[in-house]
Amino acid sequence: MVATDWEVIVDRKSAESLVEQLQRQLDLQPPQAVLQAAHQHFGAAAALSFSGAEDVALVALAADFGLRFRVFCLDTGRLHPQTYQLLEQVRERYAVDLELLFPEAAAVEALVRDKGLYSFRKDGHHECCSVRKVAPLRRMLSSAPAWITGQRRDQSPDTRADVPLVQIDEAHSTPQRTLLKFNPLARWSSAQVWKYLRAADVPYNSLHNQGFVSIGCEPCTRPVLPGQHEREGRWWWEEATAKECGLHGKG
Ligand code: ADX
Ligand code: SF4
Repeated sequence: MVATDWEVIVDRKSAESLVEQLQRQLDLQPPQAVLQAAHQHFGAAAALSFSGAEDVALVALAADFGLRFRVFCLDTGRLHPQTYQLLEQVRERYAVDLELLFPEAAAVEALVRDKGLYSFRKDGHHECCSVRKVAPLRRMLSSAPAWITGQRRDQSPDTRADVPLVQIDEAHSTPQRTLLKFNPLARWSSAQVWKYLRAADVPYNSLHNQGFVSIGCEPCTRPVLPGQHEREGRWWWEEATAKECGLHGKG
């Protein structure tokens, strides 16, 4: 199957057999092999999501291996200034046409008018994430044949322990079209990501120097102490099992 053939595998059966084949082929392979497989089957139209945290490793790894993908970031309007600085550094350093996706203006205006700027502190983050992240992601993925994420198993023992290298994205598939999702970093630990970032001199979010580990939106992210799990720095007022914003289907 070549890069331009992606239309042929949007049906469920072909997608399932491709996932099975890739899972066998990629088991125990490094992240670059997963990126190469995504490129081989979907080419530059596959969409790589980059949140402005350590998943910058994916953009750098793709560049190292000469693999070009669409690269996008969901700009919720609530990111840290340091995150915007990193996005710009990455855009320049790796010559990517970074696509910043904004939420629908009318939906944000309605949410803020009805509930204010910090509604998530009172009734949970799902409504705000749904407007600012999930809807723009859905728009992006409707025009992409495959999605590449920076999810790792060690990011959350409660929700990500089983993240596979390749899967069908049930949350964004429709009866007409099955979407494949690649998680090249699934088997890497945080320490492995950082080893690579340092060795390859990859730019990183300067908030990491201030105790931030997992970085999302400014009002919903805080630094963690040594020994605390990184997920404790996200939506800390909510239960651990609720700490998914809906991008990965559990919101
Ligand atoms: S979240 O679900 O809690 O927000 P997390 O910050 O752990 O996600 O990031 C996991 C992966 O989701 C990232 O590697 C990236 O692929 C994707 N992601 C998260 N936030 C964004 C964002 N703002 N823009 C693009 N991708 C994102
Ligand atoms: Fe809103 Fe917080 Fe979700 Fe960002 S992480 S979209 S600010 S609830």
